[in-house]
Amino acid sequence: MKKITIAIDGHSSCGKSTMAKDLAREIGYIYIDSGAMYRCCTLFCLQHGLIRMDGSVDEEALEPLMPQIRIEFRLNPATGRPDTYLNGENVERDIRTMEVSSHVSPVAAIPFVRTAMVALQQAMGRDGGIVMDGRDIGTAVFPNAELKIFVTASAQVRAQRRYDELKAKGEHVDFDEILYNLQERDRIDSTRAMNPLRKADDALVLDNSNLTIEQQKAWLLEQFRLKTAD
Ligand code: DC
Repeated sequence: MKKITIAIDGHSSCGKSTMAKDLAREIGYIYIDSGAMYRCCTLFCLQHGLIRMDGSVDEEALEPLMPQIRIEFRLNPATGRPDTYLNGENVERDIRTMEVSSHVSPVAAIPFVRTAMVALQQAMGRDGGIVMDGRDIGTAVFPNAELKIFVTASAQVRAQRRYDELKAKGEHVDFDEILYNLQERDRIDSTRAMNPLRKADDALVLDNSNLTIEQQKAWLLEQFRLKTAD
C-alpha cells in the first residue's frame, strides 16, 4: 500500500503530538515533531546567550550560527518513541521546560530559522510514510499532504492539560502563567509574517475539548482508513 503524508496542525497544547505519535505507531509510520525542532533552536539560543533580557532574539548573532544547529530524532527503546537530540545530546526534557516554551514563538517567527527548519522537515518526509505535527505542515511544509488535520480545543482546557503534564514532571508551575503563555504563543504563531498558523483549506477540523484520548485516536484512525481505502 502506498504510504501517504499526514499533516497535523493546530493550536498550542491541544494534544497534537500525543495523537500524532499514537497514530504513527499504530500504522507503522515515522513521527516527526516539528515543534521540537523550533524548541531546539530556542534552547540553542538560550545556551549561547542570544535571548536578551526583554525576550528579543539577537538575530544577527544567530544567523551565522545556524549551521551549528544539528537536530536529530532517535528512537528511545524504553518508551518506543523518538527522542530529540541537539548536537548529539538528548534534549527531550530540556526543550519542554517553561523557559523554552516562553521564548520559542519569537524564535520560530524568524524567517531564516523557518527556512532552515522547513527544508529539514521536507527532507525528513521526502519518501512519505510520515506523520508530522506543527503549525504550518499542511500549508507550507507539505501542502500536498494526502491527509491534513487541524486540531483545536478551548484555551482553558489546553492550559489545564499542560498544567497537569508539567506538574506530573515535578515542575513548579502556575496555571495563569501557563494560560497566558499558550495564548501568547497562539497570538504570535497566528500573526507572524512567514507561514503563520492557519487551517489549510483542505484540512479536517478536530475540536477535542470534550474528547478522550481514545475517542480522538479512533477518529483519526478512521480518517486514515478512509484516505487509504482505495
Ligand atoms: O508544538 P510545540 O508547542 O512544541 O511548538 C513550539 C513552538 O514552535 C510553537 O510556539 C510554535 C512553533 N512552531 C512553528 O512555528 N511551526 C511548527 N511547524 C511547529 C511549531
